[in-house]
Amino acid sequence: MDGVRTLSDPWTLGGVPIANRVVLAPLAGIGNWFVRLQARRHGAGLVTSEMVSSFAVHYRNERTCRELLRIHPDEHPVSMQLFGHDPDVMASAAERVAAAGADLIDLNMGCPVPKVCKTGAGAALLHEPARAVALARAAARGSGLPVTVKLRSGLRAGDRSGLELARRLAGEGAVAGLCLHPRVAAQRHSGSLDHAAARELIEEVDVPVVISGGLHSAERVHTAFERTGAAAVALARGSLGNPWLFDELLGGRGGGPDAVSRAEILRELEWVMRGAVDHLGEERAARYLRKFYPWYVTRLHDGPALQDALQRAPSLQAARALLGLG
Ligand SMILES: Cc1cc2nc3c(=O)[nH]c(=O)nc-3n(C[C@H](O)[C@H](O)[C@H](O)COP(=O)(O)O)c2cc1C
Repeated sequence: MDGVRTLSDPWTLGGVPIANRVVLAPLAGIGNWFVRLQARRHGAGLVTSEMVSSFAVHYRNERTCRELLRIHPDEHPVSMQLFGHDPDVMASAAERVAAAGADLIDLNMGCPVPKVCKTGAGAALLHEPARAVALARAAARGSGLPVTVKLRSGLRAGDRSGLELARRLAGEGAVAGLCLHPRVAAQRHSGSLDHAAARELIEEVDVPVVISGGLHSAERVHTAFERTGAAAVALARGSLGNPWLFDELLGGRGGGPDAVSRAEILRELEWVMRGAVDHLGEERAARYLRKFYPWYVTRLHDGPALQDALQRAPSLQAARALLGLG
């Protein structure tokens, strides 16, 4: 390797140029076009959609296609994540996702949620490597786009099926890249991260590997990037209510609790609220935003009364009044 690797270095993933090494990870129920656009505004090099059902896309579910496949012209490069277990359905969904404007397709093979695994999708695919390879090939065939897979290291403690599948997907040329969350599925989203196993995999495979998990502060991100030798880092929960983490990692601004002013936080929340209205209309946005308020309002240090009032606000107008937004 020439010189010191930094998060600001450009790279390519399946031939797609990416300006830097900081990526927005997929977040179900959250990672829609305006959340991805927000990450891009703050510097993310690549953004990933929330997971989208390949069946819903294949069967042209109206809401899925209208809302989840919506891509904003300014958010490219964008990777759309699909989940499913049927290669033909996956090929068809991938074709539709490419037509919607995706630059890359990511396949979910890490979701531990029983509702998803029961259908043979998500982390259940770690124990079905032949099907996993067929799905990746089908997505590439259907879309003509580079395909990546996001996975876990295994299903349960001691199980390394995810690492083995990652080697196979890369070795057989079925993927252009991988994203590894080096926890087993049984850990869900907490507990120790196996950075040593991640490093081993990264040294062995000849496709770029993005690292995910526990990336909640600049310090943790730098540690994971250095320890694992990953091509890039994928921010997930650490970016919720803190898009400034992208700026901090990419050298644009300092970090720390007081690095972002109250006025900036409120301006950002207002931007998010406008995005939600554009996405869902006033009425649905008022409900949807209840998930978003706590991430921003915690940073205002106004105490629990405001949080509580926002959760009960009957309309967007009422929420705006509580936040002092004109
Ligand atoms: C609310 C939530 C939704 C998630 N949705 C997805 C998803 O749709 N697809 C996926 O591959 N991973 C998903 N993940 C996993 C994240 O992308 C990420 O790998 C995980 O949260 C670990 O990173 P973190 O500790 O930095 O949050 C989700 C995680 C959370 C907390």
